[in-house]
Amino acid sequence: MTNKEIIESYKKEKESLYFILDELQNTNGFISKNDIMEIAEYLGISEKEIMILLKYKKNIKLEKQGKNIVVVCKGPNCLKKGSINIIKAIEKEFNVKEGHTSLDGRITLETKNCFKKCSFAPNVEVNGKLYSNCTKESIVKILKNVIY
Ligand code: FES
Repeated sequence: MTNKEIIESYKKEKESLYFILDELQNTNGFISKNDIMEIAEYLGISEKEIMILLKYKKNIKLEKQGKNIVVVCKGPNCLKKGSINIIKAIEKEFNVKEGHTSLDGRITLETKNCFKKCSFAPNVEVNGKLYSNCTKESIVKILKNVIY
C-alpha cells in the first residue's frame, strides 16, 4: 500500500488525522513532508495545523530514525551535571545534530526532559537501556561499542 493509499483509506474528515498519522508512523517509521502535504490536501486542512498537532504527538517522527536511538536527558539536574557537554560530544563524534539522524543512518540523537532518575544524573538512554552518572567520555565509549 502506498502512503497515498493509506491516507485515502480513511474518511475524508478532520477526525481521521490522528489515525492517518499513526498508521503512517507505524508503517514507515516517520512522516515525510510529502505525507503532510498529501494529508493536508486530502483532509482539507492546512499543513501548519498538522505541524502544530505534531508538536504534541511525541510518537510521530519527522525523519527516518537511525538504527540506534540515543536520548540525552536535558532536565535541570542532568543539565547541571553536564548533559550539554554529552550532547556536544555525541554530535562531534558521530556527526549527528540534536533532534536528527546521522547521514549514515546509524544514530538518532534525541533529548528528553527527565527520566525520573535525577539523583543519578546525567542520564542517557541508548536503544532503550538507561545509563546513569554518564560523562561525555563514558557515553562516547558506550556508543562506539553499540554502534560499530
Ligand atoms: S533531570 Fe535528568 S533524569 Fe531527571
